[in-house]
Amino acid sequence: MSEFITVTRVGEVKNGKVKTFHVNGHDIALCNIEGTFFATQNLCTHDGGPLGDGELWGFDIECPRHGGRFDVRTGQVTALPPIRPIKTFPVRVEGEEIQVAFE
Ligand code: FES
Repeated sequence: MSEFITVTRVGEVKNGKVKTFHVNGHDIALCNIEGTFFATQNLCTHDGGPLGDGELWGFDIECPRHGGRFDVRTGQVTALPPIRPIKTFPVRVEGEEIQVAFE
């Protein structure tokens, strides 16, 4: 069973923003979309672009390198050039803490 690890506090990732964290050997991009948090791997599967430096468009995160997009809920590609999905991680909020589970 995966264990949830505290990554940061709720106020640290504003609505509509993405922040990157290095936790438990993983580089993740943590997104706040209308008060719901989503965690994905930070590296784009196209050419290693830093997704956490990208922008959110609805539930999509846009890679700043070539404009590829992924749905942060599922990791699926929503705009080329990437063709492989990104990893997503379960997120929960416990009090003021945002926690992410890794395999
Ligand atoms: S590295 Fe992300 S779209 Fe190319």
